[in-house]
Order: sequence, then C-alpha cells, then structure tokens
Amino acid sequence: MSRRTVLVVDDESDIRELLEVGLARMGIDAECAASFAEARECLARRAYDLVLTDMRLPDGDGLGVISATAELQPATPVAVITAFGSTENAVAALKAGAFDYLAKPIRLQLLRPLVADAFRLPPSGGKRKAAAAEGGTPLLVGGSQPIAQVRSLIARIARTQAPVAITGESGTGKEVAARLIHAGSSRAAGPFVAVNCGAIPEALMESEFFGYRKGAFTGADADREGYFHAARGGTLFLDEVAELPLPMQVKLLRVIQERRFRPLGDTAEQEVDARIISATHRALPERVAEGLFRQDLFYRLNVIELRMPSLREIASDIPALAHGIVERLARQAGATPPELAEAALAALVRHPFPGNVRELENILERALALSAGGQIEVSDLGLAPALAPASAPAARASLRERLEEAERRMILDALERAGRDRDAAAAMLGTSVRGLRLRLARLGIPD
Ligand SMILES: Nc1ncnc2c1ncn2[C@@H]1O[C@H](COP(=O)(O)OP(=O)(O)OP(=O)(O)O)[C@@H](O)[C@H]1O
Ligand SMILES: [Mg+2]
Repeated sequence: MSRRTVLVVDDESDIRELLEVGLARMGIDAECAASFAEARECLARRAYDLVLTDMRLPDGDGLGVISATAELQPATPVAVITAFGSTENAVAALKAGAFDYLAKPIRLQLLRPLVADAFRLPPSGGKRKAAAAEGGTPLLVGGSQPIAQVRSLIARIARTQAPVAITGESGTGKEVAARLIHAGSSRAAGPFVAVNCGAIPEALMESEFFGYRKGAFTGADADREGYFHAARGGTLFLDEVAELPLPMQVKLLRVIQERRFRPLGDTAEQEVDARIISATHRALPERVAEGLFRQDLFYRLNVIELRMPSLREIASDIPALAHGIVERLARQAGATPPELAEAALAALVRHPFPGNVRELENILERALALSAGGQIEVSDLGLAPALAPASAPAARASLRERLEEAERRMILDALERAGRDRDAAAAMLGTSVRGLRLRLARLGIPD
C-alpha cells in the first residue's frame, strides 16, 4: 500500500514536530502548515488521508480548516487539537463535522488509535454497501422526508467519532439507528456492544462496565472484563441511558472525559477505545432540570442529537413498513406473505401508534397468525374503534380533553369556512390533508 500522508496544521513548531515524529513512527508521512492560509494552499495542491489541526490559528481556527477540507477534499477526515480542558471547542468541532479530537497535552498513545480509525473510514460512497454487507443490520425502511433526513444524518455522523444521543419515543428505531451508525463507521469491523442501562442492578454496575480482577471483592474468583473492554475498537451503545443512577453517572462522566478506566481491583488503567452512542425515550433535558441526570454528562453524551420521528410523523411510510414487516415475518415462518387488504392498510395509516414501529410489528404478527386466507383483513388487526366524541362537562375535563375540544372546534370552523373543501381547510390550519384526515379520524369527526 502506498504511504499515507497527513496534513498537520499548527502554528506552534513544537507541536508540529511532535506530531511529525509520532506519525513517522507509524510509517506515516506528514506535511505541515503553520496557518490557515497555508493549510488552504496545501489542501488545494494535493490529497491527504487525514488533517490534524489546532483549534486556534493565527489567521483563523480549526472550524475554518474543517470547512475548507469539506469543500476541497470532502472524503478526508479532520481531527482537531484542543487546548487543555476546553470541552466546548471539542464539541463545536465535532458538531461542525470533525472526525475526532485530541486534547493537549498530546498523548501519542491516543494519536495511534485516532489515526488508525481515520484510515479505516469507508469511502463516502461505500456506506450503503457496508450496511447491507453487515447482514444482521436491519435497514431503515421509509421514503418520507423525516426518514430521509434521519438517513442522511446517520451517514454523516457515522463518519465522526462524536458521541451521539438518539432520542425518540418507544419503538421508533433508536437501536436500528445506532447499529446503522456503527455499520457505516470506521469501527464497523469492531464489536457493537449494546447495554441496557435500566436492566443492570445498581450494585453490579461498576463491575459490569469496567470489569474486575480476581480478588477485587468477595466472589470475584476470576478476572472479568467489562463493557468498555468488550467494546474496544467498536461502539458502546448505552441504551436507556436516563436510567443510570447518579453515582454511576459521575463515574461514567469521568471515564468519558479522561478516556481511561480502571477495572475494580486493578492497578493499571486502560484506554477507552469505544465510540459512545446513547439512547433514551425520556426527555433528558427534563431529567436534568429535575436533578435526576447530570448536566455535565448530558453535554458529553449529547454532542450530536439524532431524533427518531414517531410513526405518526411518518404515517406515509406505514404501507411500506407494513409490507416489509409482513414479508419478513412470513419469510421467518417459511410461509408465503399474505396481501394486506386495502381497508386494513387504511386503518393502519389512521391508527395513532403510541408504540410506533414496534407496535406495528406486534399488530401484524398477531394479524398474520389470525388471517385465514392469503389476505390480512381489518378485523385481523384488532384495532380499537375510533373514540366517540367526548361530551364531558368542561369543568371536569382533563387538559387533553380540553385541547381536543379546542382542536375539534378549530377544525369544524375551518371546514365550514372552506365550504367543506378539505384541501383548503388543511391549508387554513397549516397542516397537510393527510394530517387533517388523521385528526378527523382521531376526533371521530365523520369525513
Ligand atoms: N424505519 C424502520 N424501518 C424498519 N424497521 C424499523 C424501523 N424503525 C423501527 N423498526 C423496527 O421496529 C422495532 C423497534 O425498533 P428499535 O428496537 O430500534 O426501537 P427503539 O426506539 O430502540 O425502541 P425502545 O424505545 O422500545 O427500545 C425493531 O424490530 C426495528 O427493526
Ligand atoms: Mg431500544
């Protein structure tokens, strides 16, 4: 393989030399630039495999280098060097598209894995192939705009090492997204370790995460490695992260900041070499406000946020999702996939799905078992009939009922003013015709 070349951008000659020497030891050539202007010239002149840039430059900053690289060499990853203790800079750089960061004082033992990761990045075009080749990675179904946005965000964040926090209601595909980010990243060949933070007994948390050495406590009769060790070279997925007890949040924060951890009863520390993705169906900012989640940990985990849309927001994808699910379930059972009756599909599109795609899967799984012929009918779905219009006295009505009442009045009013033209009424209400139809169905207003 031809030798790799890294562009080093820093105005301090000591740091340029340190990096040059460190890279040379790995068999990598370095070219150096002492300013933003020089870096731009270099980027315009030849291709690099990686750019390492200081955040502060005499005539610009690291963010400028990130955007210049994106413009001139979009496939080249950029890692920034941040001042000691400057978390904001690192976060700003990752948000701007940096691949990773290195804190000063530079530790050469951290440079090696960073460079190795950068060189393992699949070329931008290869993302989809990488994900498909992964076999076990479920793909994100759907052509709606919110899903298309999620897909392109996943492709972008897969190319960084930035911590990602995935939010979204239950069953919206948070784990699917985490697996796709891993599969499209430089760590795709490494492990994907999923940890359900809500399922580990508090007393065992530390040993589960960091591992222990024989004799560390009564019952520790052999060495055991933890999740951070298991995820080396790969991705650590902290699912239901809001459930972490506060003392564990403190420990986790320290490990993420220092990028080192120590197994219980061990004298030696280990480097953290795992990309961290977290997920929760809870609103973390609210947990922070309530004092249940540490703000500093929240900022660390939430460098990039990926919100998975609810199934209500992507109702236009319901038919494609339903077909995909029925096909998969039938294939697993070794049966021919049944058709979905038109009325059944229509009923699914109208259903509010508080449990999102997972609920859709459950409904279809049951329907598949019930459907007699080669077709799934509405009656096989077991959906609750639409609610009758509420008539409770306003004084005792809940917030939800009163909101629905207001919604009902606004919709009926708009329909009347629009001469019952649904397109016009939808436009007046600032919603889509589909959105209006969903609301009509939910409120039990005859179409
Ligand atoms: N866009 C999608 N395309 C295909 N399958 C999907 C999609 N979204 C979700 N699924 C499927 O729905 C199910 C739920 O997804 P997943 O477990 O990722 O959700 P989650 O957000 O982690 O849910 P929970 O909060 O309940 O843990 C899975 O079987 C997943 O394969
Ligand atoms: Mg999940």
